[in-house]
Amino acid sequence: MNFILSPSILAADCAKLGEQIHAADVAGAEYIHIDVMDGTFVPSISYGMNVVSSLRKTTDKVFDVHLMITEPIRYIEEFAKAGSDIITFHLEAASDVNAVIDKIHSLGKKAGISIKPATPVSELLPYLDKVEMILVMTVEPGFGGQAFLPHCGEKVKELRGILNERGLSTDIEVDGGIYLSNLQEVLDYGANVIVSGSGIFKGDIEKNVTDYLKIMKK
Ligand code: DX5
Ligand code: ZN
Repeated sequence: MNFILSPSILAADCAKLGEQIHAADVAGAEYIHIDVMDGTFVPSISYGMNVVSSLRKTTDKVFDVHLMITEPIRYIEEFAKAGSDIITFHLEAASDVNAVIDKIHSLGKKAGISIKPATPVSELLPYLDKVEMILVMTVEPGFGGQAFLPHCGEKVKELRGILNERGLSTDIEVDGGIYLSNLQEVLDYGANVIVSGSGIFKGDIEKNVTDYLKIMKK
């Protein structure tokens, strides 16, 4: 299994985004996690495709774009053109989930599907062999700095079990409340793509990335 770190720039200093992404990049983070919030699907508003296309000029790392927006199909093409590599949308936000997956694939991008803490793993079952990644939220989407919800760890374990039974090696990404202190526990549940915002961008970014990777790559 490939273990990948995806620092979430939601916790970065917006005035220094290029600089702080560079620090995560040189320290060895493989993905950059970009949270897009519309103020409707989640209460907060973050940034849109113009930020993605500006950042695209600063790094070659994989852009892991997490859309927390209602009816994401409306914006898939624009986020693909802006330079996203993986586009993840919420199951709860899409009226036609298959259409969104197909749209992402038709633009040559990898598709991810995400579930909120209250959404059961069973709702993902029709889509497991159709996406490259599943994002199990481990906090309520919308804000950084929240505490990891243990029942979401159990959902990861359940999902990894189902994927294994079906012979699928789909990536499971986890997002929210992940720090050095609980990273091993989260890996043990069966996640292999780790998002972390506060744990990476607060303090010494390069050291934080190095410390995470030491645990993830051992
Ligand atoms: C929350 C976002 C997360 C957020 C995680 O809705 O999807 O990516 O940045 O932040 P931390 O790691 O601080 O919990
Ligand atoms: Zn996210």
